[in-house]
This record gives sequence, C-alpha cells and structure tokens, in this order.
Amino acid sequence: MSKDTVNFHRTQMKKEMVLTKLRKQGCRITRQRRMLLDVILEEECASCKEIYYKASSHDPTIGTATVYRMINLLEDIGAISRKNMYRISYGTKLENEINYHEIIECITCALDAKDPYTAGHSQRVSDMALKVCELIGLKEEDKEKIHIAAHLHDIGKIGVPDAVLNKEGKLTEEEFESMKRHPAIGADILGKSHKLSELSDIVLMHHERFDGKGYPTGKAGAEIPIGARIIAICDSIDAITSNRCYRKAHDFAYCYEEIEKNLGKMYDPVVGRYVLDNWDEIISVVRRETEKRAFPA
Ligand SMILES: [Fe+2]
Ligand SMILES: [Fe+2]
Repeated sequence: MSKDTVNFHRTQMKKEMVLTKLRKQGCRITRQRRMLLDVILEEECASCKEIYYKASSHDPTIGTATVYRMINLLEDIGAISRKNMYRISYGTKLENEINYHEIIECITCALDAKDPYTAGHSQRVSDMALKVCELIGLKEEDKEKIHIAAHLHDIGKIGVPDAVLNKEGKLTEEEFESMKRHPAIGADILGKSHKLSELSDIVLMHHERFDGKGYPTGKAGAEIPIGARIIAICDSIDAITSNRCYRKAHDFAYCYEEIEKNLGKMYDPVVGRYVLDNWDEIISVVRRETEKRAFPA
C-alpha cells in the first residue's frame, strides 16, 4: 500500500469518527458542514480565516457564522485544538481512539497473513456487526466494544496449527477439537491487556449457540453476551457466502434461508429477525468487500 493510500485511509477513518461523534452530540450533518470538515481535515489550514477562505472557494454561499460554529463543534468533541490556531491538531482522546482502532486492525492483519483463505473475514464481520448494533439501537460504547470484538473474534486461530487451519477436506475429530480451542485461546490473548480484557467474554462465546449446543461453554440464550450473539450471525453470513478451502461459496438466498431456519437454534431469534428484515443493508458490506476482492484497485 502506498504512503498516499495509507494517509487517505487514515483521514477517512478520522473523518468517520468525527462524524459519529458529531451525530452523537445531536449535530445535523449538512452538506456545508461535511464540506467544512473536508477542508479542516484535509487542507491543513493555519487559521479560522484560512478555513473560511478555502471553504468559500468550494461554496461561495457559506457564511462566517457557519464556519465558526463548525470549528466550535469540532473543538467541543476534541477533534481539533484551537489553543494555537496556527496548528489545528486532533485532541488526545480522539487520537487515542484512532490509534487503538488502528492497532486492532494491525493485529487482525497478522491473522490474515497466517490464514490467507479467510483474509478480510474479520473486517467484514466487524462491519456487519456494527450495522446490526446500529439497527438494534445499542449504546455508542456497546457498539464500539462489539465492533472491536468482531475485529478480534478469530484471533485465537493464531494458536491453531497451520495444517489444521489450511487443511483442504474434512477435519478429523482431533483436528476439529484443536480448531474448537480458538475462542478460548483468543479470550486468553485479550486477557493479557487491561483494555482488551473487557472483550474476552464476547470472543470466548462467539461459537455458542442460542439453544446451548455450541462451544466452548455451552451457555444459552441471554447467558451469552449480546455481542457474541451478534457476531455469531455475522460470522455465519460471511462464512456461508465465502469460498473455503473445502467448498465453494453459497449464494445470498441460500444464506438467508440458513439463518432463518436456525433462528432460536443457532441464533438469537430477535437479533436474527433484525438481520433478516434488513438483509440487503447487512449484506451490502459483504458484497462491497467481495467486489473489491474481485476487482482490486
Ligand atoms: Fe471463530
Ligand atoms: Fe469467524
């Protein structure tokens, strides 16, 4: 990946996080505010005046009040600091959140490198999980927690032997047992970090079934954290619709039926209903990713 692409990706991530925070504050994101955000984050302005001049070159109808209001909003959420207007920088809290997210993505890339067959799986599962959290209307902090846990849900596969992980054909009973250890290995890895240990239970239970017939704990229903119940469905959607070393991808219609058939058995029926009722929106994530993989830029 080129340096420009990395910088572009970083800016987009920052922008998304800033937008999420602004919305959380009840701020309506108008076309002008979005444009101002682009100017402030991308054009390295040195002062309020410069922001105003650059913004008015994009939209001559913009007023100074709109510009100042936006600068104040960004300052309120810690996205920029005006202590010294000659340098607009991110507040430490936001910068920390961005760094945290980037570190998580680095860790999951390590798993992708070991298991190229499922590369991108964690990213797609976390994108879908975030959409489901939004549909259900979970609190912002729970959404973030589940999104990060979804990025890391299979991290324990690092501890599964390559011969098992990449085996073409059916696993023996012994091999399957070794594969089944990945949720516990993942939970153990996360337990080493104070910050990440709050995600351990979600990762530990992402292969539990709603009827209690899953693994490793055999817990059922509401005993399984909501994050693990959400990830279980998203994990299945991605697994069913992806090529595996032992079979070809199934289509989305087949996948829909599989999920529906297993509501109350494998999957939480309430979460599952949200997913099925918003099917196109949820699978748009997988589709976009699949298209990207088919036609790399
Ligand atoms: Fe898994
Ligand atoms: Fe998975």
